[in-house]
Amino acid sequence: MMQQVFHIEKKSEYEKAGATDLIRLIPVLGANPIYVVKSILEILVISICSGEKIHLSGPTGSAKSSLINALYMEPKNFKAICCALGIPCRPLKVYPIEMATFDSPGELYQRRAIRDGTTYDEDSVLVSILKAIAQSNEDAYHLVHLREIGRVHSASIQGGLLDLMVDGSIVLPDSSHLDIPGLAWIADSNYQAEADGTYVLATFDDALKRRFTVNLTLGYLSKEQETIVLLHLAGEYQMNIEDQVVRDIVKLGHKIRERRSQGELQSVPSPTIYGYLALLRLYANLSHLSLIDLFNCTLLGNASPADTGAAKALVSDCLGIQLEQELDTVIGGVGI
Ligand SMILES: Nc1ncnc2c1ncn2[C@@H]1O[C@H](COP(=O)(O)OP(=O)(O)OP(=O)(O)O)[C@@H](O)[C@H]1O
Ligand SMILES: [Mg+2]
Repeated sequence: MMQQVFHIEKKSEYEKAGATDLIRLIPVLGANPIYVVKSILEILVISICSGEKIHLSGPTGSAKSSLINALYMEPKNFKAICCALGIPCRPLKVYPIEMATFDSPGELYQRRAIRDGTTYDEDSVLVSILKAIAQSNEDAYHLVHLREIGRVHSASIQGGLLDLMVDGSIVLPDSSHLDIPGLAWIADSNYQAEADGTYVLATFDDALKRRFTVNLTLGYLSKEQETIVLLHLAGEYQMNIEDQVVRDIVKLGHKIRERRSQGELQSVPSPTIYGYLALLRLYANLSHLSLIDLFNCTLLGNASPADTGAAKALVSDCLGIQLEQELDTVIGGVGI
């Protein structure tokens, strides 16, 4: 039986959902709603509220950033889960830190600044944030978000976090202490997707890895889950699309991932819901074009000449028809 989607803002629906069911979060302005497995949502929220150090990993496009955004940029999402779990419903404050902007471990603590023609060291963005949280009287859950921890220039920068991500007092270079009870940390990365590509620039520092007490992997959704999500989104955006087209698109997406995991079709990126949605929009607006035309400028648009044959075979396999003639004219003509 096809899996259902449960709405977070409907308390009775949320309560009815099982641990592996998909919950639709209220969308952040300008973004599409995201659908997340209930157990992942609850582990994430309880970990934030308990001041854990969370590593959220997974392949590109698996909604790591969107999930964190949905929890704090649309406060009703976080509140609904706190209420359902029976924990105090305080606001969530997230402090994003872009890890790729640090060139050395020392910059995590201090950065060079210029005033009146002379240079001096001032607190880094991270230390300024930690000081502000320590002084805050706000009754909120505070979460420091280390964005893209795998994209630092070297593992030594990660090593610089070891003395900041501590339980108890944080000791700063000038020997002052910061006490921030209950502070939670979250880092997102593609480490759990290493086989999928070269999305990380530094190997994960072992000592830092040990600091993370909760390790969540957000993988791609199953074929059935992706189908239900796309059908749901097509309905939300009032796209007039036959169910079978959605199934064919997801089928192609999964075949691409399967081939990539076997070392083939490396020029074609793993499909994501984001990519599928663009394809659905094109299909809904250009009904006179064939699905093959649209595959070739979306999911398969990056196929290199060497991968063209394999791409053709996949499309043919997915649509279950002999497409040699048609594909020979379309592929290469429209994009691959
Ligand atoms: N489960 C989902 N439900 C709805 N939309 C999704 C889902 N997963 C991914 N998306 C869509 O894919 C887009 C990309 O997701 P996002 O940027 O959050 O991925 P990411 O895991 O942070 O990727 P990266 O590792 O490249 O930073 C989102 O904006 C969203 O539109
Ligand atoms: Mg991201």
